[in-house]
Amino acid sequence: MPTRPDAVTVRAAAKVNLELLVGPRDEATGYHELATVFQAVSLTDDVTLSHAPATSLTVEGRGAEHVPTDAGNLAWRAAELVADRAGVDHADLDAIRGVAIAIRKDIPVAGGMAGGSADAAAALVAADALWGTALGADELTAMAARLGADVPFSLLGGTAVGTARGDVLTPAMVRGTYHWVFAFSDEGLSTPRVFAELDRLRAERGEQVAAPRASEALLAALLAGDAEAVGRHLRNDLQEAALSLQPRLAETLAVGEECGALGGIVSGSGPTTAFLARDREHALHIAVGLAASGAAADVSRATGPVPGARLLDNRKDK
Ligand code: C5P
Repeated sequence: MPTRPDAVTVRAAAKVNLELLVGPRDEATGYHELATVFQAVSLTDDVTLSHAPATSLTVEGRGAEHVPTDAGNLAWRAAELVADRAGVDHADLDAIRGVAIAIRKDIPVAGGMAGGSADAAAALVAADALWGTALGADELTAMAARLGADVPFSLLGGTAVGTARGDVLTPAMVRGTYHWVFAFSDEGLSTPRVFAELDRLRAERGEQVAAPRASEALLAALLAGDAEAVGRHLRNDLQEAALSLQPRLAETLAVGEECGALGGIVSGSGPTTAFLARDREHALHIAVGLAASGAAADVSRATGPVPGARLLDNRKDK
């Protein structure tokens, strides 16, 4: 029988979309068909689960005051999904009463970096370990997809191509380490609102869009470890909509470009902007330039790719 620890901590990473191509909206579901290339980066949240008489949730760290601490939090719903599933298979239901969920955030909230999805993926892995349900990758991935389109990638990590809603994943072959600088905004953007703004802009132009496909040139650049070429091929169809809702992001992008970034892009649905650097030193130069310009509320450096949601060894944290 699997051991049941008292508490489990799982670390999950933020993502940046190197390419985010948005196809037509499915009228039935409201979701858009995507072709996207995700990369997990070393900006992380830690989620700790421990046994408790009733379920509770606390949040500390970057943007904590904006995070729901009830069943509206995706991490809470993730733990519930595992508990429901565990109830089906486990005779000793007493072991599953409640769970205390403690989230330590470094990923910006409503920032376009899948912070909520990372917490949900971490909670799935942590609940599975805490209750000894040993669900396996396929079942965890299916649960992740029920929670949100970005949650399966938060489980997987690395670099991957996402199709359908962004939840059908194929790992991409990548050489090297990519050095990123992220500029945060002091005001979040709602993902549904950004997609709706893109629909509005497209309708205004009478634009018809075809089913999207990830670019071969970007995938070849990643395979070759050619950061300059990756920088040239960064693309985000949501950028126009994010800029329409937060016009000052254009200034942040311009400053990153002036600092010599290999490429600059709005991350996901924004408002975080992401800049690719040649190396560590170049990233520091861009970060200092962005911070000095005042064009961003905060600046952070990170590297990718990094793994998806993973258990931290509580005895000796590597
Ligand atoms: O799946 P998730 O809850 O993360 O998606 C948030 C919102 O983003 C959806 O309600 C939808 O408005 C939009 N979305 C979309 N097409 C996708 C993914 C997300 O329109 N492929």
